[in-house]
Amino acid sequence: MTDTAEAIAPVGSLRGRDFVSAGDLSPAEIRRVLATAARLKADFSANRRHERPPLVRRTLAMLFERPSLRTRVTFEAGMVQLGGSAIQLTAGNVGWGVRETVADVARNLQAYVDAIVIRTGPHEVALEFAARASIPVINALTLHEHPCQALADVYTIEEAMGSIAGRLVTFVGDGNNVFHSLAIVAAGQGAHVRLAHPPGYGPDPAVVQRARELGATAGGTVTLGADARAMVEGADVIYTDAWTSMGQESETEARRAAFASYQVDAGLVAIAGPAARVLHCLPAHRGEEITSDVMDGPQSLVFQQSENRLHVQKGLLVELLGDPAHVGDSDSADAGDPGPGADGHARIGPG
Ligand code: CP
Ligand code: NVA
Repeated sequence: MTDTAEAIAPVGSLRGRDFVSAGDLSPAEIRRVLATAARLKADFSANRRHERPPLVRRTLAMLFERPSLRTRVTFEAGMVQLGGSAIQLTAGNVGWGVRETVADVARNLQAYVDAIVIRTGPHEVALEFAARASIPVINALTLHEHPCQALADVYTIEEAMGSIAGRLVTFVGDGNNVFHSLAIVAAGQGAHVRLAHPPGYGPDPAVVQRARELGATAGGTVTLGADARAMVEGADVIYTDAWTSMGQESETEARRAAFASYQVDAGLVAIAGPAARVLHCLPAHRGEEITSDVMDGPQSLVFQQSENRLHVQKGLLVELLGDPAHVGDSDSADAGDPGPGADGHARIGPG
């Protein structure tokens, strides 16, 4: 899609879609989400509020059975900033798959709210919600994918260095959920994605194949290897994540031993050179997968990346839930919903 087409495409045009895998949206559709996120970020950054929020009276159900800071807060705060609201639910107080079936929970929720955001271990549970619910289901992390993270990652890379197409992005560590989604999104946008991982901790081959297929169209590639120093040579971006993901805690000691030579420290970053930037999805385990001097140093984009979770998820929400007539910025008219002054809904930040 050309920039011109993006500029005139109405938001809300992905209305009703699920986002369980990063591959659920095409590379062109992902560009649309990122473009909408950029408009929302610019609009919001001016005075930390939207004059005409596009999701007035929309409601999100947030089903979280794993800890979260960034994903949970950015979805809830983002929804409020867009004029809507979010309801936090836990496995303990709903009991999907325990107190009643996922299908029955989904059937109830679709009558009450406009979308479901779910963080759970088994990817199959997120897929089942998507299959059963008639409303959009968004994956807020499973052990297999973290697609919302990948959107913010690519957005941040492009914000810092322009188009990701042709860029070399080296992920150092586990071939995990964060890597899976990043590979799909980044290769689909034409990046060269590398993973340096110890034996036995590689990605799902089906994900690599999917990312390579998407990359073939866009000029992107996916390469796997074991030598972290060799894999970061020439990298524009070095990315790392926890060695032990949520749900793998019993493997912590074995993983510490396996990943000991995969730490992103100043020496590794120096191989890529001074222009390389460093990403981490957070939470970080300082002194394990990343050192504090790198994470807090001048090449780090880590906190810009975590801020962008807010703006990019707002772009996703507007595209999936918005009224296609609403162009999503402060100059727009929203035919169906009153403006923010009309019903006195929450304002965010100063002013
Ligand atoms: N990166 C990320 O998803 O952070 P949380 O686990 O805090 O949501
Ligand atoms: N791979 C990590 C990401 C946390 C946001 C995990 O799944 O725990």
